[in-house]
Amino acid sequence: MAGAQDSLLTFFVNGKKVTERDVDPETMLLPYLRKRMGLTGSKYGCGGGGCGACTVMLSRYHVQNRTVSHCAVNACLMPVCQLQGVAVTTVEGIGNTKTKLHPVQERIAKAHGSQCGFCTPGMVMSMYALLRNKPQPCMEDITETLAGNLCRCTGYRPILDGYRTFCEVSDCCQSKGGACCLNGNSPEENGPKGSGLTNGGDCPSLSNGNEVTNKHSDQVNGKEVTDNLQNGHLELFNKDNLLPLDPTQDLIFPPELIRMAERGEQVTQVFRGERVTWVSPVTLEEVVDLKAQHPQAPIVMGNTNIGLDMKFKGVLHPFIISPSRVADLFEVTHTPEGVSIGAGCTMSVLREVLEELVRTLAPEQSETHRALLQQLGNLAGAQIRNVATLGGNIASAYPNSDLNPVLAAANCMLTVVSKEERREIPINKDFFQGFGKTILQPQEIVLSVFIPVSKKGEFVRAFRQAPRKENALATVNAGMRIRFRPGSSVVEELSLFYGGVGPCTLAATKTCQQIIGRSWSEETLSAAYPVLLEELALPSSAPGGKVVFRRALTLTFLFKFYLQMQQILTEMGVMSEGVQQDMRSALTGLPSHFLPSYQDFQDVLVGQPGQDPVGRPMMHRSALSCATGEAVYCDDMPQQQGELSLTLVTSTKANAKIIDIDVSAALALPGVVDVITASDIPGKKFRTFCGLTEELLAEEEVTCVGQMVCAVLADTKAHSKRGAAAVKITYQDIPNLVLTVEEAIEQKSFFCPPREIGRGDVTEGFKMADHIHEGEIRIGGQEHFYMETQSMLVVPVGEEREMNVYLSTQHPSYAQDSIAETLNIPSNRVTCHVKRVGGAFGGKVTKTSIMACITAVAAWKTERPVRLVLERGEDMLITGGRHPVLAKYKVGYKNDGKITATDVNFYVNGGNTVDESPLVIEKILLHFDNAYNIPNFHGTSFACKTNLPSNTAFRGFGVPQCQLVTEHIISDVALKLGRTAEEIREMNMYRGPSMTHYKMPFDPENMLLCWEECKRRACLESRRMDIAQFNQHNRWKKRGIALVPIKYGVGFSEAFLNQAAALVNVFLDGSVLVSHGGAELGQGIHTKMQQVASRELRIPTSLIHISETNTHTVPNTCPSAASFGTDANGMAVKDACETLYSRLEPLRKKNPTGTWQSWIKDAFLEKISLSATGYYRGHDLYMDWEKQEGLPYAYFTYGACCCEVELDCLTGDYRTVRTDMVFDIGRSINPSIDIGQIEGAFMQGVGLYTSEEKMFSPSGVLYTRGPGQYKVPAVCDVPLKFNIYLLPGTQNPHAIYSSKGIGEPAVFLGCSVFFALKDAVVAARGDAGLSGPFTFHSPATAEKTCLACASHLTQMVPMNNPGTFQPWAIDTP
Ligand SMILES: Cc1cc2nc3c(=O)[nH]c(=O)nc-3n(C[C@H](O)[C@H](O)[C@H](O)COP(=O)(O)OP(=O)(O)OC[C@H]3O[C@@H](n4cnc5c(N)ncnc54)[C@H](O)[C@@H]3O)c2cc1C
Ligand code: FES
Ligand code: FES
Repeated sequence: MAGAQDSLLTFFVNGKKVTERDVDPETMLLPYLRKRMGLTGSKYGCGGGGCGACTVMLSRYHVQNRTVSHCAVNACLMPVCQLQGVAVTTVEGIGNTKTKLHPVQERIAKAHGSQCGFCTPGMVMSMYALLRNKPQPCMEDITETLAGNLCRCTGYRPILDGYRTFCEVSDCCQSKGGACCLNGNSPEENGPKGSGLTNGGDCPSLSNGNEVTNKHSDQVNGKEVTDNLQNGHLELFNKDNLLPLDPTQDLIFPPELIRMAERGEQVTQVFRGERVTWVSPVTLEEVVDLKAQHPQAPIVMGNTNIGLDMKFKGVLHPFIISPSRVADLFEVTHTPEGVSIGAGCTMSVLREVLEELVRTLAPEQSETHRALLQQLGNLAGAQIRNVATLGGNIASAYPNSDLNPVLAAANCMLTVVSKEERREIPINKDFFQGFGKTILQPQEIVLSVFIPVSKKGEFVRAFRQAPRKENALATVNAGMRIRFRPGSSVVEELSLFYGGVGPCTLAATKTCQQIIGRSWSEETLSAAYPVLLEELALPSSAPGGKVVFRRALTLTFLFKFYLQMQQILTEMGVMSEGVQQDMRSALTGLPSHFLPSYQDFQDVLVGQPGQDPVGRPMMHRSALSCATGEAVYCDDMPQQQGELSLTLVTSTKANAKIIDIDVSAALALPGVVDVITASDIPGKKFRTFCGLTEELLAEEEVTCVGQMVCAVLADTKAHSKRGAAAVKITYQDIPNLVLTVEEAIEQKSFFCPPREIGRGDVTEGFKMADHIHEGEIRIGGQEHFYMETQSMLVVPVGEEREMNVYLSTQHPSYAQDSIAETLNIPSNRVTCHVKRVGGAFGGKVTKTSIMACITAVAAWKTERPVRLVLERGEDMLITGGRHPVLAKYKVGYKNDGKITATDVNFYVNGGNTVDESPLVIEKILLHFDNAYNIPNFHGTSFACKTNLPSNTAFRGFGVPQCQLVTEHIISDVALKLGRTAEEIREMNMYRGPSMTHYKMPFDPENMLLCWEECKRRACLESRRMDIAQFNQHNRWKKRGIALVPIKYGVGFSEAFLNQAAALVNVFLDGSVLVSHGGAELGQGIHTKMQQVASRELRIPTSLIHISETNTHTVPNTCPSAASFGTDANGMAVKDACETLYSRLEPLRKKNPTGTWQSWIKDAFLEKISLSATGYYRGHDLYMDWEKQEGLPYAYFTYGACCCEVELDCLTGDYRTVRTDMVFDIGRSINPSIDIGQIEGAFMQGVGLYTSEEKMFSPSGVLYTRGPGQYKVPAVCDVPLKFNIYLLPGTQNPHAIYSSKGIGEPAVFLGCSVFFALKDAVVAARGDAGLSGPFTFHSPATAEKTCLACASHLTQMVPMNNPGTFQPWAIDTP
């Protein structure tokens, strides 16, 4: 290496200079900010660039044009070594609650876009970076910017609405000078017939909505309500008085960095860490020298490929070359023949260059540029595009790189350099050699990429299908180029390149040869399909699975290309017949324009004092702290003195005996302190659930991959991880592997005897039926994907065996009791603290407690604080999720659609330990009637024991699975009879005074009201007609609509779980501290408790504080679950406040003009206690399974949801164009929080039923261990119009202030998207000549939906014969 060298790194963070000497090259910016700088606002959500929780902004000064650029990046993938001369801005650097908020922080909070808040700083920073570059963005800019940020709580709608306020032109029709669309039928509402975006023209929905909301009165309702009135409509947040965007508030780019850059004194930097040396050269000469000396060293640019390898695959690169300051790699040179783009240019820069060329070149010259732009628009999220480089994408040679097929098809060239030579090589069929392999020599680097202009008569197109519309690697993609003989349709040149159908980008050379020389016609195409299928023959067990779908996509893209070219040839006058009208639907995209959504809620009752916040939309009390990064989550707690990090070692076998655990290699590693095994546990070594035991750490046997065996303790996370990787466990396989429910049934592998329930006589019911239909449906499992992974910190107090435990759990008391039993100490020595939880959804109860026990053993043994924070992959592997279910059903029905009998067997995959599976199978049986009074009705439910990681509670607890089965049965009956599913639903609904199948009386009136109201507001009838028209005119795009009802029981059927307690302390200054048993999971329970206390004590919420949930203050609490948290804890807080308020009564009488503060002072002087406990006994609910009757729920929450989708039948892609939901939630305590719960749960349901697919290998290994492989809904999945209506005028005598629980029910209503898709598929199948019921399992992924459409293309793909090969992934239910 020649020239000067340095190991001093200089950069700025939030305006402060940071200098680092010899920083460890393995350190990424995220842990650096969080652990080293104490800036914990940026969060860890996945560590792999897939979730956006870690988003920060990087600013750089460019000497050439003296400008500063800003971009959002993922701090988790950004090596600190790359920050020389960079200014980093984190969420803490833009505003805070103590001095001044930034508008991006304020607006997301005020718009209710923050629930658990864990994603919020990332959202804030993505939006902030956008505004720095474009202060007046449009809605498309916002949705594109947020595409790389995941939120598991909100459903995104409120985030979009909050940030919509930055748009110069609001999307509201009023901005175009008309009457507001929210007040009636706007021009936008009345879209073209058949567009599906209409309100049906004469739909009364919106105008009637105002009748519901306009009951307000300024005088009685007070300022808060009046402020939320906009356009005469009650709004969830007040858009007036928002902080204006003020660029002067932004941090300036550090002048010192400008001076540094202008001095131009760049020297090679070398950083040496524990295992890795990093060299950052400044000249190309140095780079090629270094490459000659270290040919195996990777070139690290964006680190989006190498970073993942090092983090997740354990690849170690001892020497890294990072030429990100070498100017030659960033040169862009234009010639008449094309453009040469430096390989170091990021995707974002590439996009800018191409956009400029498209603007300036003649259209015929920019064919390739437009095709590349199309791929770039969907390539990853903005944060990745801002760092990932063109050269990196090409050299990584991903099989599903989006650029490579286009670059190859378009004859692009590379300039590569090495010490010996500089050469030009084409990106062609010989360039890609295999997975991650190209013909590049190890010592060569890519200098630039030449993209030629297209020639006259040449056309280039790009295609892509991915598991999610945005921020997802393509399943299959393609780049295609064609040149026709001038003036004819004869093909002269053709290049077809595909990605995703082999180990690397592949050329379909034989197919091209088949076509070249022929005229562009259907005959030519038909002859080409079999050649293509043979040429790109994907083996049945190919990695990635989805073999038939992927093969079908190769044909689909060729078909689409054919139609596109046919259209062009017609426009050119070469072909006489253009694309048939109905076929054109293959060429258009799916709708993507967001329309204003509508949230309709009840106003407070006339006469309610202005100060009383109950019933009013009130911002989540932590929203501002979350938006500024000040909110403290478990892993944000500062490092403790002597703290150790724990990493779990988990089983790699699904069923095996443990022969030996060898920890010697681990103990020999630097930093490793100890290894904890089962023998270290001083007390109980297992937990008992439903009468069965689960070992904390496996001792003799493992029964799933991912089972916890031991745990390594070290001084740092990196060291404990390396230690864990070094533990050697020897296993002896136990041959009997049970993974699927079919295998469990065959081997009678169940946790408990099946549960059974019924009413009437099904045998008689089937006899009465005119028709009988039998079928089955599979419902896949679901990963909780809470944004905050499992986190805990156990701190030994140091005396009397006391332990302080800080953890992210829904059930602190259970963790306390478990830890006490594990350590063999009384519970009074263990205090569990929960400040807040970054999402839980049922997944932070049982496994969290087991992990807390293991962490406590480690702290006990070492007498040091121990922290365990799971990485995303570990979390997904270990903690299980929602139970997958296989349901086999038989239904009898009359000719008119009346169902006479249903018999269903539910097989639930419980996994390797019992956990809560027996309770889940019970809840399935209690809910599978849903809204229907089927007279003869029987269900049996089995909890299957398998060798997969144990499944556990998940929002809805079996209800989303069983009710899908019921609705599927109904839709099958409708298909059999040729009727709409809504007709069959209506015909079979409960009506009048009713009784459930477990003999619980109830009145379904509100359920029917929701149904009717939803039907009316969604204009179901008229839209059905529009859709039929649309479908008639479009062969390859189909619309579908579905309306689904829900009846959801709230409360725990185990009576003791319904109790709650609270402690309310008043201090002498009048401030109040409320403590209760509920944990804040993002569901806003603390906000609601604040509202309850405010009403009861008649004081403003600003006087009331809630600090945390801990087992010291309120003991023996129940889990925050079952949608019952507010019902139970609200009553306990109310009770305590009532006690306090009545104690003050004499003082108020004595001094009626006094203030709250004066009465409190007086009370103290008069020795009146200012502390009160509150208690709520809860409902005495029960279920007698012997008698099959009971009162397992306190009441029912009702709702209905109508969704319309548009489906691309050729790819399976779809878009929800509109959703209308009506819910009866009684009198909402806080409409903004409740609507947030509804929207968030709905979107989680959409994920469950359409995109979230857990995949296991045939040996039981979970493949889907991060956001890269597992697709939770993102911004692109939000319905384009998303209306929520809370049913007015309803009461609920069974819960506090007449409210109802709403945390869980809306998950199920996500299935209206599933059934709308099914409806669209039915239309597609109709065109294919098929009718009647068909196999349609959940999730209805693009793969399943596309194949169900049974197009001529999917029919061409030979089906794999089951049993003749080993599939890549198993069917898990
Ligand atoms: C969350 C996420 C989503 C993604 N989504 C997509 C997507 O939708 N579509 C898609 O196509 N890709 C996607 N990618 C992949 C991404 O585009 C590539 O990882 C990226 O382009 C690689 O560039 P880099 O600069 O980060 O490479 P690095 O990780 O820095 O390097 C990658 C490899 O390329 C080599 N290399 C880099 N530059 C050169 C050079 N100039 N000469 C020779 N070798 C070089 C390195 O030696 C190394 O082996 C995604 C990645 C992530 C993390
Ligand atoms: S933590 Fe960085 S993207 Fe998920
Ligand atoms: S608020 Fe977005 S993940 Fe919880």
